[in-house]
Amino acid sequence: MTSKTPASSTPNVLITGASRGLGRALAHELAAAQAKVLVVARNREALKTVVDSINRSGGWAQAIVADLADPKAPLAIAHQAQAALGHIDVVVHNASALGPTPLQLLLDTEADTLRALTQVNLISPFELSKRLAPSMALRGRGLLVQVSSDAAVEAYPSWGAYSVTKAAADHLTRIWATELGQRGVRAISFDPGEMDTQMHADAIPDADTSTLARPEEVARRLAHLILHPASVANGARVTATSVVLPNKKEVA
Ligand SMILES: NC(=O)c1ccc[n+]([C@@H]2O[C@H](COP(=O)([O-])OP(=O)(O)OC[C@H]3O[C@@H](n4cnc5c(N)ncnc54)[C@H](OP(=O)(O)O)[C@@H]3O)[C@@H](O)[C@H]2O)c1
Repeated sequence: MTSKTPASSTPNVLITGASRGLGRALAHELAAAQAKVLVVARNREALKTVVDSINRSGGWAQAIVADLADPKAPLAIAHQAQAALGHIDVVVHNASALGPTPLQLLLDTEADTLRALTQVNLISPFELSKRLAPSMALRGRGLLVQVSSDAAVEAYPSWGAYSVTKAAADHLTRIWATELGQRGVRAISFDPGEMDTQMHADAIPDADTSTLARPEEVARRLAHLILHPASVANGARVTATSVVLPNKKEVA
């Protein structure tokens, strides 16, 4: 992945799960690069803190409070996004549900758990893309980003329900890429690797956090891909560690 590709003009970006963790760090990173960011999550207060902080620093951010577990959420989010910005250039499907913790073996997993995770991690992102991608295709420009996980690829015991929704979301991304690529809309998956966030603490409470990446560090890599979409092949699954960041001199 080269860092020499020129940045596209600063995009309007919608990021789900931006009240904390990777989504919040990405919102800050993109806003600092002049992107307008819409931040989506359930926690109104936490979103307000993110928005206030970005706007105070001279960026542009607005919150959309929504619960992706609600099947009506994608339509409501799309309407609010269009009202706020007119069009969206980039959607980052970052919000994710993990399911009950301690994580369960498949034999202990209720079908309702799998259904609930599927709504948040797959169906709502699918529907949100379905609502926002047509205007991208009409304008001949857009990017759908799915935040993935190594659990989408590796078969880890007790990560079953979460893993299959992430694997399905990766494949959905590849199909979006195939169907919309000719119309200028790209789709990629991004595997952030293990990060020191709430989700990681919920999943593996006794992890040594000194071994985990900071979400801010990972967000810089994802922001680079978003701002240089041509640096990655349409439909690719990119790991955070494979993204080469330009050094400061090159950026200046
Ligand atoms: N941390 C890791 O080690 C790791 C590893 C691999 C992949 N990932 C992936 O990275 C992404 C970001 O995770 P993270 O580690 O940054 O997690 P995090 O800190 O727990 O953040 C998750 C975000 O998703 C939002 N969210 C959760 N359920 C939601 C719902 N039903 N509706 C709307 N928003 C919802 C949360 O906000 P509210 O609670 O305010 O709604 C929060 O902003 C996820 O896709 C995750 O699968 C993480």
